[in-house]
Amino acid sequence: MTSTLEVRHLQVEFPLERGIARAVNDVSFTLHPGERLGLVGESGSGKTTTILAMLRLLAKPGRIAGGEVLLDGEDLVAATDETMRRARFSRISLVPQGAMNSLNPVLRIGVQFHDLLKAHGAWKSRGEARAHVARLLEAVELEPGVADLFPHQLSGGMKQRVCIAMAIALKPSVIVADEPTSALDVVVQKQVLRTLVRVQKELSASVILVGHDMALMSQFAHTIGVMYAGRLVEYGPVRQVFGNPRHPYTKMLIASLPSFSHRGRFLGIPGVAPSLLDPPPGCPFHVRCPSAIAGCSRDYPGEWLGEDGHRVSCHLVTEVRDVHPA
Ligand SMILES: Nc1ncnc2c1ncn2[C@@H]1O[C@H](COP(=O)(O)OP(=O)(O)O)[C@@H](O)[C@H]1O
Ligand SMILES: [Mg+2]
Repeated sequence: MTSTLEVRHLQVEFPLERGIARAVNDVSFTLHPGERLGLVGESGSGKTTTILAMLRLLAKPGRIAGGEVLLDGEDLVAATDETMRRARFSRISLVPQGAMNSLNPVLRIGVQFHDLLKAHGAWKSRGEARAHVARLLEAVELEPGVADLFPHQLSGGMKQRVCIAMAIALKPSVIVADEPTSALDVVVQKQVLRTLVRVQKELSASVILVGHDMALMSQFAHTIGVMYAGRLVEYGPVRQVFGNPRHPYTKMLIASLPSFSHRGRFLGIPGVAPSLLDPPPGCPFHVRCPSAIAGCSRDYPGEWLGEDGHRVSCHLVTEVRDVHPA
């Protein structure tokens, strides 16, 4: 089955001793069947929190403070725990950050697949499960014999493939992968992403990929979402966001990455990400923004809407439009 996922005005809070950290602030986007969305942004910008909230897997004290996550029109935020448990893996599945380290070290790979199938009522017989696991391993380009091995007997790339195979075991229509290739070397990263694209196409599933590598993202994604301090600051088709970035933060992200400038080291963006407990007023990027104007420290900007669903929250972009009306 294909599904449409709509995230609307999602808010996530972490009530901490020193106050409330708003880790996800008014995030909205729609993921169409077969679409591949890349979520990028510096560490701490709220990417993982956004997707964990969508799957209702937030660690305490995190809580969804508002918004909806509609999967084929059904709000997962309001769903019962049991509905949500069943939806995971079978409708929306997650390859978590650091997934390959989350494999149980004392269980053979095959046993971990069998446990998953049992937990979701997809277990018929040992023979059938073995065949199913062999097909899943084949789908991610692993030998069936991998089922008889322990995680420590596999390379990083192989473990990550196992995690992808687990995520597709119940044919979900949405696959969410949180930095699935970060710990791998460049060649293996590309291979694993190619595999992810292939299984995604076979299932006609949509994918949300969280990652840092803008070059890899530009090859993988149809749509890019840029997060800063819990906000989705720029969103749109990859050719718009990378070809014609509008938000100063997106421009700096692209310029600072070695793959997009010349093969130097990652330069980073000057300054530090703001505290989510006590964020600066106005646009949270204004303190680091080279082009900030007076209004930037006052209000959070409205959203500029461009071609093909390109959206940007930046005063400079909305101001320019006001000065030169289309
Ligand atoms: N378990 C937690 N307890 C308190 N705050 C958290 C927790 N997890 C995340 N946060 C807050 O959410 C912010 C975003 O984190 P995260 O979603 O992991 O970012 P990213 O995946 O973009 O690196 C963090 O900077 C932190 O303020
Ligand atoms: Mg993360």
